[in-house]
Amino acid sequence: MNNKIVIANWKMKLSLAETLELAKKMKNKFKGFSGSEVVICPNSLSLIEVGKIIKGGPLKLGAQNVFWEDRGAYTGEISPSMLKEAGCEYVIIGHSERRKYLLENYEMIHQEFKAVLGVEGLTPIVCVGEEAEERKTDRRDFVLVDQLQQALGGINLLGDQRVIVAYEPIWAIGSGVAIEPEEAEYAHKIIKISLRDMFGMKVVKNNFRIIYGGSISSKNVKEFTNLEGVDGLLVGGASLDAGEFYKIAKAI
Ligand code: PGA
Repeated sequence: MNNKIVIANWKMKLSLAETLELAKKMKNKFKGFSGSEVVICPNSLSLIEVGKIIKGGPLKLGAQNVFWEDRGAYTGEISPSMLKEAGCEYVIIGHSERRKYLLENYEMIHQEFKAVLGVEGLTPIVCVGEEAEERKTDRRDFVLVDQLQQALGGINLLGDQRVIVAYEPIWAIGSGVAIEPEEAEYAHKIIKISLRDMFGMKVVKNNFRIIYGGSISSKNVKEFTNLEGVDGLLVGGASLDAGEFYKIAKAI
């Protein structure tokens, strides 16, 4: 998959009114935008309204989380098919903040991944990434391979099923300090090799994109645009400003 993708993760940083206001700004800013694919992931309550605002333009809609069952007694949860109904084309799975605060683990992430693949037109964005301590003690490669195997292992992808793997070193998220570009390139290589082991070269080439996330801004984005194996970016803080996010999307 050749075209790059830029994904805005608004987390729980905006009120409902602020979310709609930002969606309108984004819509105007990105009018006529072509180049990379651009996805906006607002909070769950705003998905439908944001979908209406960006409809007909280049921006796509994504969710920040999903449950693994399609229907049933699961209080508080939202299924993959509901997200599709709400207009989502993407969904983030296993973000490190959910692993930290909601105790999500890779067994759950695996279930979510399978469930999302079962809904046509909904693409999972699966997050992996090491902690600062794991990086310091040289365990990163092992951690990444292990997370990928747990999340994606034992699944055969059908021809048109797309998957995005987001490499998000936990220490770089929201810290204001992004990874060094060479280090990102290295980690992306490890992820690609691991995916090739699991799915084969052809499937990785056709169905997967590997993107980087963690303290990306308009100031450092240039360093990430031509890196080998970096197919896009997942942007948190810097996606809360339409002008700033536009600069990032334009650069990649
Ligand atoms: P950040 O967040 O860009 O604010 O570091 C990235 C993410 O958590 O996806």
